[in-house]
Amino acid sequence: MHRIEPLSAAHDRETFSCGSPPLDLYLRQTAGQHARKGISRTFVLVNETAPTPRPVLGYFTLNLCQAHGEDLPRELARRLPRDVPALKLGRLAVARDRQGQGLGRLLLVAAMEKVVEVHASAGGIGLFVDAKDETARAWYQRFGFTPLPEQPLQLFLPLATIMEALGSTGSTG
Ligand SMILES: CC(C)(COP(=O)(O)OP(=O)(O)OC[C@H]1O[C@@H](n2cnc3c(N)ncnc32)[C@H](O)[C@@H]1OP(=O)(O)O)[C@@H](O)C(=O)NCCC(=O)NCCS
Repeated sequence: MHRIEPLSAAHDRETFSCGSPPLDLYLRQTAGQHARKGISRTFVLVNETAPTPRPVLGYFTLNLCQAHGEDLPRELARRLPRDVPALKLGRLAVARDRQGQGLGRLLLVAAMEKVVEVHASAGGIGLFVDAKDETARAWYQRFGFTPLPEQPLQLFLPLATIMEALGSTGSTG
């Protein structure tokens, strides 16, 4: 049975390999430090029956960010102040030997649920992501993310789309 939980000492991050060395290295060396310093939070997908330290099957990292009008799809920017708060999916990766089994989708849905939680207490207009390449971009687009004008590897998923996808209700004003 899979579980998504905050990264901690109970997780084996050393053996994680997703095919992208910078993403592996971030999990090993930086994710814990950034969480302790309040820079970002990393959540890992594990098999809850695995003995500790539990191998990481996948992870995602979220941080707060500020969006600027020129970064947003034009029709959304028209209705908002120039600088607005949002969340950023800093990283998302699945272990190479577990890719193509729906785990990336599971992680993305968990990240979207966190965006809704943050929105309930502090706001946030949606979720940004920097796709590392065209393949990743195509993957995110599959879930409704749209590339930003003139920055095709940066994508945005508005809060309303997230809520609709999750079947959530909430005050979006
Ligand atoms: C990109 C990544 C996170 C996807 O995770 P995954 O667990 O393999 O993806 P899933 O199995 O959840 O795929 C969900 C759906 O996307 C589809 N899909 C997979 N790769 C795709 C691609 N490149 N383009 C479009 N759709 C794709 C799958 O077929 C699946 O569709 P289905 O549910 O209709 O069968 C994973 O391959 C990975 O970690 N890659 C290396 C790191 C990386 O590129 N991270 C992206 C951050 S920039």
